[in-house]
Amino acid sequence: MAKIVGGIVTSHVPAIGRAIAGGLQQEAYWKPFFDGFAPVQQWLAEVKPDVAVVIYNDHGLNFFLDKMPTFAVGAAPQYSNADEGWGIPTLPAFPGDQDLSWHLIEELVAKEFDLTTCQEMLVDHAFTLPMKLLWPNAGEAWPVRTVPVCINTVQHPLPSARRCFKLGQAIGEAVASWDSDARVVVIGTGGLSHQLDGERAGFINKSFDLEFMDSLVNDPAWATRYSVEELIELTGTQGIELLMWVAARAALGGVDQVRKLHANYHIPISNTAAGLMLFENKD
Ligand code: DHB
Ligand code: FE
Repeated sequence: MAKIVGGIVTSHVPAIGRAIAGGLQQEAYWKPFFDGFAPVQQWLAEVKPDVAVVIYNDHGLNFFLDKMPTFAVGAAPQYSNADEGWGIPTLPAFPGDQDLSWHLIEELVAKEFDLTTCQEMLVDHAFTLPMKLLWPNAGEAWPVRTVPVCINTVQHPLPSARRCFKLGQAIGEAVASWDSDARVVVIGTGGLSHQLDGERAGFINKSFDLEFMDSLVNDPAWATRYSVEELIELTGTQGIELLMWVAARAALGGVDQVRKLHANYHIPISNTAAGLMLFENKD
């Protein structure tokens, strides 16, 4: 059976794409952010997972307001990136793993998650930039196959943290029952606190972010006590993207099953509080 080897949760911001393209990683503004990724890149180079399940939120590249699934799972042979209008260079297509995609879909639907299945799917900066941050030297050939899992954070009503936690648990169970010897890493991208528009544009809540990061180590269901509205009040309109972290962490299992290997928190990258955590699953 397949095995989850660990999980990585990180923020995503379009400006990272331009910073990478411009080679700005060592500049004062960017260094504390990019330096945070070195231990995670090292871990990936040692552990060499075969597949990445990437839990992220699309921002209008693949789904727009006319059709907005709450949960969508990719089942494509590959996933292309495309110009989103942020001035980010597009990245090479990501190979899929259709066997895991369909196994996940079967298992999640059996557990009463009503999914949209995507046999064609574009992936936006929330998927592509974390991949580039984790495997900066991948060039044209990504070293992992991928399965995108997309959660709506764009058009209300949004799924609750409680529902996303359960989705993550079901993903973890589905991977564990996949008849494969693949080693799987779960990646969650979004958050932490940020608000891009309106009266609270620029809002960041460091104390909440740090408490949330701590909860992923000691009490991963902690955020499920809050409603979506409460989380938006606490973290900003786009801070709600932390739902990806809730789902990804839930996929790894309970407190006793994982150890935290690394964390970084840096304010701000663009308008966003940039967080990063690496968890390893115990044998
Ligand atoms: C920014 C952050 C995001 O999560 C996003 O999707 C777009 C922009 C920002 O801080 O600029
Ligand atoms: Fe975002």
